[in-house]
Amino acid sequence: MEIRKIGVIGAGQMGSGIAQVAAQSGYEVVLMDVEELSLKKGLEAIRRSLDRFLRKEKITQEEAEKALARIKTTLNPADFADCDLVVEAIVENESVKGKLFQTLDKVVKPEAVFASNTSSIPITKLASYTSRPERFIGMHFMNPVPLMKLVEVIRGYKTSDEVTRVVMATAEKMGKVPVEVNDYPGFVSNRVLIPMLNEAIQAVMEGVATPEAIDTVMKLGMNHPMGPLTLADFIGLDTVLAIMEVLHEGFGDSKYRPSPLLKKMVQAGLLGRKSGQGFYKYDEKGNKIG
Ligand code: CAA
Ligand code: NAD
Repeated sequence: MEIRKIGVIGAGQMGSGIAQVAAQSGYEVVLMDVEELSLKKGLEAIRRSLDRFLRKEKITQEEAEKALARIKTTLNPADFADCDLVVEAIVENESVKGKLFQTLDKVVKPEAVFASNTSSIPITKLASYTSRPERFIGMHFMNPVPLMKLVEVIRGYKTSDEVTRVVMATAEKMGKVPVEVNDYPGFVSNRVLIPMLNEAIQAVMEGVATPEAIDTVMKLGMNHPMGPLTLADFIGLDTVLAIMEVLHEGFGDSKYRPSPLLKKMVQAGLLGRKSGQGFYKYDEKGNKIG
């Protein structure tokens, strides 16, 4: 099985990054979203990221142009018909992802592999929406995709050895380091990371310290590149909440209870960097202000 053409669904912060690294690695890419505006924003993010690499002389002008030329955009899932691998990176919601995979299963050639970039939803459950659970796998890229080395490769209950091998090799071709894990709530990365972010949010709610103070403690005290509240804003508070809910339901353990402050902020539309406000405020380019 050879991967030549990759479909990416969702042109948000993760999907645009995945499309970019795939195109930079020589794959033909089709990028889809439900909104034209999201496709436009996704392509802008890709151009900005390529420009940064250009300025730092990590890539040449020709490489940047070739990568951009390899990306086609669409609003129609039927354009994935001849893709060899489809990577889904839409909103972290099981029923929305499930409906999408049911549609894809009908329009994409049967030998193609389906991968989800979900942060926490069980791969085995998502695979059950399709007729190809042995060709279904988790391909969990980290944010920001163009910079982060890890791809957590999650085997569902029925994922075949061959599909796992092909997906690990594809991640390596994209310049990433794949790590194979099994399908349990939050996998490894978010089972360990997200409860820490939730605890930092709980500390804000209890008035233990300001977001700035908590972030400084973790940056200077633990050498984390970003404090937990900056990171929660960066990931998206809606995504952080969705992951905590999967952990809470999946383990049935109250230690994974989402912070009430996190819930309230999401209800108020404060989703972090992507909405312009979370624990901090951001300008249109996503830079912190104030
Ligand atoms: N593309 C290309 N270059 C980029 C870039 C992008 N998307 N984003 C940043 N850069 C470049 C910048 O231009 C900058 O270059 P210079 O050093 O030449 O100026 C360099 O990277 C560093 O960027 P910044 O100075 O803006 O910021 P920084 O030093 O804080 O580094 C960071 C940025 C790499 C994101 C760092 O803050 C970091 O590692 N943060 C933690 C990220 C993390 O934990 N990610 C995992 C999130 S969890 C997840 O992904 C899983 C999930 O399911 C939720
Ligand atoms: P985002 O909100 O930035 O982007 C989601 C995009 O999906 C939007 O452009 C939206 O228009 C589009 N979309 C929604 N429903 C769609 C549908 N039915 N068909 C096509 N497009 C649709 O979200 P994100 O941060 O990029 O997260 C995407 C996925 O990646 C989620 O499953 C998330 O858990 C996972 N993830 C996120 C991070 C992170 O740090 N943000 C890291 C790793 C994995």
